[in-house]
Amino acid sequence: MNNSLKPRFGVLISGNGSNLQAILDACAAGTLDAEVAVVISNKLEAYGLERARKSGVRAAGLSPAHYEDAAAFDRAVLGELLRHKVDWVVMAGYMRLLGSHVLDAFPQRVLNLHPALLPAFPGAHAIEEAFSAGVKETGVTVHIANEEFDQGPIIAQEAVPVLPNDSLESLEERIHAVEHRLYPEVLRWIAAGRVRVHDRKVVVDDH
Ligand code: GRF
Repeated sequence: MNNSLKPRFGVLISGNGSNLQAILDACAAGTLDAEVAVVISNKLEAYGLERARKSGVRAAGLSPAHYEDAAAFDRAVLGELLRHKVDWVVMAGYMRLLGSHVLDAFPQRVLNLHPALLPAFPGAHAIEEAFSAGVKETGVTVHIANEEFDQGPIIAQEAVPVLPNDSLESLEERIHAVEHRLYPEVLRWIAAGRVRVHDRKVVVDDH
């Protein structure tokens, strides 16, 4: 942990970065007492890198193609996180499995956001799959990440109903709106020191 009280987040992205934006906005508005210390993308063209720069946050684009193998790439990601003295790793639309170097360096301190009610619909196409399956309800999950994709102790979930007239796009829009509210909310709990893991389950302490 750094010595100042504000936790330092390292945000991992792969694309648009609308969730990153929600986090940056909450920090700027003072509703989230934390700092985004660095934004790292595995896609050099990710718009989220631009969002980071616009907010004056260090943006690092690292392409896996420039590294010998997945482990070398993972070590480079870890190097950036350590260089910026990150306390928590926050995956926000990071579409790549995080390797063991980062997970081992940040035990129980890597978060992931998923656009479905896990364990239902894991993977990269959760919204489409839930929509095609005809479920009446899907939602958003924030969880602590481990080495398996979209697994690990769940911190928070919020249901989103699938409405009779929904298109994939309208459902996506409502899910993203929930994500943009729920992720900063969970990060507030983290910043307040209210989140702990007990018996492989997450406990959120009262204020
Ligand atoms: C979000 O729906 C997130 O849950 C998923 O990827 C999307 C990222 O969106 N894993 P953005 O890059 O934050 O706009």
